[in-house]
Amino acid sequence: MEDKVKIINNFKKKINSLKKYNEYYFKYDNPKISDADYDKLKKEIIQFEKKYKFLKKLNLFKNTIGFAPSNKFEKIKHLSPMLSLSNVFDRKEMEEFLKKINNFLRTNNPNLELISEPKIDGISATLIYEKGQLIKGLSRGDGEIGEDILNNLKTISKIPENISSSSVPDLLEIRCEIYIGKGDFKKLKNNFANPRNAAGGSLRQKDSKETAKIPLKYFAYGFGAVEPMIFSKQSEFLEKIKTWGFEVNTLIKNTKGINEIEAQHKKIDSLRSSLDYDIDGLVFKVNDIRLQKRLGNTSNSPRWATAYKFSSEKAVTKIKDIVIQVGRTGAITPVAKVEPVTVGGVVVSNATLHNEEEIQRKDIRIGDTINIQRAGDVIPQVISVDKSKRNEKSKKFEFPTKCLCGAETKKEMSKNTKKQDAVRRCVKGYECKYMAKEKLKHLVAKDALNIEGLGKKVIDQFWDLNFIREPSDIFKLDYEKIKKMEGWGNLSISNLKIAIDKSRNINLEKFIYSVGIRHIGQENAKILAAFFISIKEFSNFLIEKQRKLVLKNLVELDGIGSTQIESIENFFSNEKNRKITRELISELNIGNYSYKTKKGKFSNKKLMFTGGFQKISRSEAKSIAENNGGKVLGSISKKLDFLIVGDSKPTKKKIDQAKKMKIKIISEKEWNKLLDS
Ligand code: IVH
Repeated sequence: MEDKVKIINNFKKKINSLKKYNEYYFKYDNPKISDADYDKLKKEIIQFEKKYKFLKKLNLFKNTIGFAPSNKFEKIKHLSPMLSLSNVFDRKEMEEFLKKINNFLRTNNPNLELISEPKIDGISATLIYEKGQLIKGLSRGDGEIGEDILNNLKTISKIPENISSSSVPDLLEIRCEIYIGKGDFKKLKNNFANPRNAAGGSLRQKDSKETAKIPLKYFAYGFGAVEPMIFSKQSEFLEKIKTWGFEVNTLIKNTKGINEIEAQHKKIDSLRSSLDYDIDGLVFKVNDIRLQKRLGNTSNSPRWATAYKFSSEKAVTKIKDIVIQVGRTGAITPVAKVEPVTVGGVVVSNATLHNEEEIQRKDIRIGDTINIQRAGDVIPQVISVDKSKRNEKSKKFEFPTKCLCGAETKKEMSKNTKKQDAVRRCVKGYECKYMAKEKLKHLVAKDALNIEGLGKKVIDQFWDLNFIREPSDIFKLDYEKIKKMEGWGNLSISNLKIAIDKSRNINLEKFIYSVGIRHIGQENAKILAAFFISIKEFSNFLIEKQRKLVLKNLVELDGIGSTQIESIENFFSNEKNRKITRELISELNIGNYSYKTKKGKFSNKKLMFTGGFQKISRSEAKSIAENNGGKVLGSISKKLDFLIVGDSKPTKKKIDQAKKMKIKIISEKEWNKLLDS
């Protein structure tokens, strides 16, 4: 008997350490033991369970099976994150991008210098040089953590292994895009669909001899960490690294103002097909690096750059039918079912019609001959109707007022513009099965739970089979049933299990985003996470009495306005939403919001702003404070170290409260002095 207890305790110990290692690996991406040791421990546990059969009945080892870390490449944290880029698709969106920059900088300069570079459609990598020696080469990975692919990168002969110039900074990180030339791709005998996939496949070969067989090329386009920083312009940086032996694209040009931007975009678009590499747009970057620094980043892309995608191919086709689709926020989108046509190598049979107004304005009817356009990876759009080809008997399209689920739809009033929204919405949330399915797709997507192998198609499939109706069902899948389905084998099931288990570990900000509350995107989720810190506090939304109180406090959060508050209130007023959220929480292991402190003037200091500033925008003030290690609070509290008061319309109540609490109050002038000191 005593022996049995000993065995169980011993077994539990092993499992607990395995769980701990899992956590380090999956949650913190910081493995504490080697893959070999990990595998050894796992094997021991399995053998233990086999030897002492009674252990199996205890089911202790259930949730830990399947966590086999990929041991292909070593994982390394990036010196600074590798971000992605925001996109614009037309002149208007590009103008908005320029306006946003000006707003942030509180300038009004339509002729800001932007450097234009082709956006190479390849695989990104980063090269780290210490004293001119190439010491590390990483893949992008998830942007925070990359994989060590140095040996594979070294097979690219044009990547310098050492730079013999006295002016090279001690630490130099070069960001580049790896590609296979279109000509080389044609010569290759492989199964890859396009050069990009082939480049990715080649770079991820475990054996660099395999990589070396494929002629990879690259263009260097940016920098990561540089110490000391010796560049003041992006153009200057590119010219310099060219002299150090890096490959730099030749189709680079400085532009000023929207007309020059448009002209450059047209020019490169027209010679695109003659290039030996694929490009899918131009990247426009603020040339002045000091301004880049001021602009900083949002949670996943820089404010100082954007990709202006090519508006790509157009085609003529005919509308067979107009149907409606329901999005995750209930938006009713009309979609034209068209006679299949090939646009830019892809067969298109659907095109979006945006909304009711758009159909009316363009008078789009079933049976019409239309021009469609496909840009990047977005759904094709209808650009115009050829009315000369219209059948005399055709009738105006009548937009349905009901959702596919049968519920009435609503057009909301916009608080800001005081106008009625163009979009009709179903307001049934998870009670509408069409919305529910889309919400599930949002939940498993990359920026949310990020469950690999559970994509949109699988959600559709599992939904139709009644396997998944609500978020928590994802964690209760019956794998025996799935196993019997076509297309599912032992490996894909085991991978799915691993991915689902991995997704249980999530931080608060990602969780809040995952819930899928309308108007709560990644940025707002972060603001809320910084406010609540723990899931326990966030869960107050689920309690009627607490909710009202919490919502009141949100008013003072920078970045959260009445639109967001109302949306949160709507979401959690719904009983079903509350139940679903509660059940989801119970399946997850939600880590506290951890504020990444930077070292600087305001390290460990808490600040708050009120009123508008003379020289900089509020967004910039906030970003400066954060870049100097400070934490910007949304509401007055005793924890606050400084209240910074701008000249333009500061809130008197905040100042009074701060005075009462003896919080240091400083003016914009004093704030500037503090920064300069
Ligand atoms: S600048 C902070 N410039 O596009 C991100 N990126 O969608 C700054 N890319 O991961 C990126 N050509 O791999 C930049 N001339 C170029 C580029 C380029 C290709 C890729 C890059 C990046 C992705 C972003």
